[in-house]
Amino acid sequence: MQRRWAIAFLAPHLKRFHGNEHILDLGCGDGKISADISRFLPTGHVTAIDPSKDMISWAKRQFCDFEYSNLTFALGGFEETNLSKEFDCIISLNALHHCNDKKRGLEEAHRLLKDQGKLLILVPSSKESAWDEAIAAICSIEKWSQHLEKIAETVFLDSGEYANLLETCQFTVISVKDIKTKDPFVDKEEFVSWLVGTYPPIVKRELLTDFFSDIVDQYIAIYPDAIDANGTISAEFDAIQIVAVKR
Ligand SMILES: C[S@@+](CC[C@H](N)C(=O)[O-])C[C@H]1O[C@@H](n2cnc3c(N)ncnc32)[C@H](O)[C@@H]1O
Repeated sequence: MQRRWAIAFLAPHLKRFHGNEHILDLGCGDGKISADISRFLPTGHVTAIDPSKDMISWAKRQFCDFEYSNLTFALGGFEETNLSKEFDCIISLNALHHCNDKKRGLEEAHRLLKDQGKLLILVPSSKESAWDEAIAAICSIEKWSQHLEKIAETVFLDSGEYANLLETCQFTVISVKDIKTKDPFVDKEEFVSWLVGTYPPIVKRELLTDFFSDIVDQYIAIYPDAIDANGTISAEFDAIQIVAVKR
């Protein structure tokens, strides 16, 4: 689902590529979207980095050099990319909210871009939603509060805060747009399995299905319109699309 929203955001930019660009995908996760992007660059290259060893090792196994010779995966994050090369474009999809020091992260993106290089970011926003309310409620009950894993704190900003931060980091902001993503899941099972594969492991792996199952029940209790008579659940998330250029 995230892939669908990501591609919808990226499509107009991907279409304008010449095919020889060097792209950095920052916080690439499982690398599926990095692989999609690499197909637009027959003579270019995608470098895809993520701080999660599991994600990078999965991506390397899934997208082998033989089939994706223009795609490289490596460990790294916003704060520490371990890169020196210059990029025509940096893409970051649903990852910047995990970066604790966003100013430092965006300064690093600025350093790695060529002059006039483009920054394309899709990030969840700070808006209070039924979804956030459901997660907070479930995390606070004793059944789950005792199992919460220590994961990097997630800090959400709103569109105005991102625009200001980008200007401070020497970017010219082309657009910052609030969007609402809405995705249908055929049933609760499909939604839960997507959540297990998408979210960072908030509780131990073996408890994830039960944990997200409780969150989905809570989400539906708060927002009954999310489920229709056939059991199809439409999940809504608030996000921000950012386009900026290095100045
Ligand atoms: C929801 S996933 C998104 C993955 C991928 N971009 C996508 O859209 O499918 C968020 C990713 O951000 C990564 N992440 C966490 N902290 C990060 C940081 N400081 N810098 C870059 N990525 C980070 C996580 O490891 C995770 O793989």
